[in-house]
Amino acid sequence: MKLSHKLIVANWKSNKSVTEAKHWAETFVQQEPKDAYTYVVCPPYSALLALQDQEQYFALGVQDLSAFGAGAYTGEISAHNLLDLGVKYAILGHSERRRYQNETSADVAKKVTSALDAGITPIVCVDRDQFGEQAAQLTASQREQVIVAYEPVHAISTFGGQEDPIETTLENIAALKESFGNVPVLYGGSVTPENSLVYLQEDAIQGVLVGGTSLDPEKFAQL
Ligand code: PGA
Repeated sequence: MKLSHKLIVANWKSNKSVTEAKHWAETFVQQEPKDAYTYVVCPPYSALLALQDQEQYFALGVQDLSAFGAGAYTGEISAHNLLDLGVKYAILGHSERRRYQNETSADVAKKVTSALDAGITPIVCVDRDQFGEQAAQLTASQREQVIVAYEPVHAISTFGGQEDPIETTLENIAALKESFGNVPVLYGGSVTPENSLVYLQEDAIQGVLVGGTSLDPEKFAQL
């Protein structure tokens, strides 16, 4: 797949009430977000409805999806549940889910299938250890339809925020593409208005996946 604009993806994680989400959106649209980018907001499921009808400013995504379809899976949110909500993207296999929910690359592959069947573009998160195993769990056709987010766990703000030099990041993205093919690659890990251009100006990086900074609509619009 090819992206027309670089993607700036907000991962709010388990933050924000409905009221806080509405306030975020009101403030963000007042910042005159840049036309050069496509913004994607991935709130908790509970705030999706409150963020609808803002397509001219940002697309909607989710932070996970059930590996199962619709059915008797108490507590799961299936791709089918999202059909009328305008969800365009799903972050899958985030390192926090791999760590706290013991999600495996095989689980993530099932979620990729569910997302693609529902017309949702997967953003598959990987650190170096998972490049080969995660790519091998996807079919060739799936690899052509996903976006991959390279997120070194040590660079994520809540896991230490230890950024690598850009040269190391580019080497790792080249290695990632040996496994996944020529996919669009996002970078994630402590992206801020101060360092975002270091990543966004690189041809090999098609956008950024942003946690902490995305919680503040003014800072998010400055990326
Ligand atoms: P961070 O999170 O920007 O707070 O480091 C990124 C992520 O976890 O996706």
